[in-house]
Amino acid sequence: MTRRIPVGLGDRAYEVLVGDGLLDAAGEHIRPFLKRGRTAVVSDETVWALHGKRLSAALARAGIEAHPVIVPPGEQTKSFEGLADVSDRLLALELDRGDLVTAFGGGVVGDLAGFAAAIYKRGIDFVQIPTTLLAQVDSSVGGKTAIDTPRGKNLVGAFHQPKLVLADLSVLTTLPEREMRAGYAEVIKYGLLGDRDFFEWLEANAAAVLAREPSALTHAVARSVEMKAEIVAEDEREQGRRALLNLGHTFAHALEAETGYGAALLHGEAVGVGMALAFRFSSQQGLCSGQDAERGVRGVADAGLPVRMDDVPGHPFDADRLVSHMAQDKKAEGGRLTFILARALGEAFVAKDVDAAAVRRFLVAEGARA
Ligand code: NAD
Ligand code: GLY
Repeated sequence: MTRRIPVGLGDRAYEVLVGDGLLDAAGEHIRPFLKRGRTAVVSDETVWALHGKRLSAALARAGIEAHPVIVPPGEQTKSFEGLADVSDRLLALELDRGDLVTAFGGGVVGDLAGFAAAIYKRGIDFVQIPTTLLAQVDSSVGGKTAIDTPRGKNLVGAFHQPKLVLADLSVLTTLPEREMRAGYAEVIKYGLLGDRDFFEWLEANAAAVLAREPSALTHAVARSVEMKAEIVAEDEREQGRRALLNLGHTFAHALEAETGYGAALLHGEAVGVGMALAFRFSSQQGLCSGQDAERGVRGVADAGLPVRMDDVPGHPFDADRLVSHMAQDKKAEGGRLTFILARALGEAFVAKDVDAAAVRRFLVAEGARA
């Protein structure tokens, strides 16, 4: 059964559809957003080789011409060069403002194609068809689009909401196990930050979700999207509550910066360690009970995700370097550190002005080099 989750953003409202086999009906779903019967499909080589024929056939059945714009897989594609390449290929297709870009892939493709759509001829519509668990529960919803620069991740971008998100669970059958676990970090994040019941449900059902058992996976994706949609509708531009979605991310970004944003540590894995550190730091600061912190960390570890810095290649990390990455984080204000910390399982809050020296001491106690 397809779940329809609204993202209530006034005249930019849209729906996220979660279901098994949605790809085969993509044409019918996309057709109402088209003025001409064509779309540029931005995808990466891996996704296109696995699922491109199925999408092209579905679009053709609805009388839509698909123009593939295929990019190399991997984070390095989310760059100025990648953006220039995609923009140039959209121009070569003579796409105009009445046309639509379809982003068909993981978060890399969604962020890159979404940003290209945001700036192409001052803005063109786009649709997200996310193909990783991470993209289905997080990056395809909420309108954050960006590329990386040599100075850091996601530093150049725009808010540009899609017209529609089609999260087809059937494409996850080809997703490598490690990517599935990395996506699961963003799923459990919703329980940890704001829904204790969902966290407890995940404690009991993690194995079924990771095994892609259809009903468990549907619930996990739909509940995650529901929470994200609700938060984005309330705080689209991250003036307040949306920052909760960054639980674990301040620690995670510092570790990703140290490991080079690559295969050594996937983003979701970094978020796993980051959430564990955020809960342990909250407990150490007397904000959250040790029992809740341990239980939260266990939930992450039970999914096979790293929860300690010494689980990460490159350990031991230098505490000062980690803190300096944190100070450059987009969430840092005037050099002070902002973290998402927790009072309990399902009760995260934004902590501004966190003492960098306390974070440094904590990191050293956790095994970082002093
Ligand atoms: P990704 O897009 O690199 O995909 C991971 C790998 O899986 C790639 O090699 C890809 O080719 C492959 N793949 C994708 N779908 C597949 C499928 N169905 N079967 C087999 N292989 C498949 O990575 P990701 O984890 O999806 O996304 C990470 C990116 O998302 C990062 O750049 C991160 O910054 C961004 N992100 C953005 C937001 C946002 O709100 N915009 C939120 C979280 C993360
Ligand atoms: N992934 C964090 C956000 O969308 O705000």
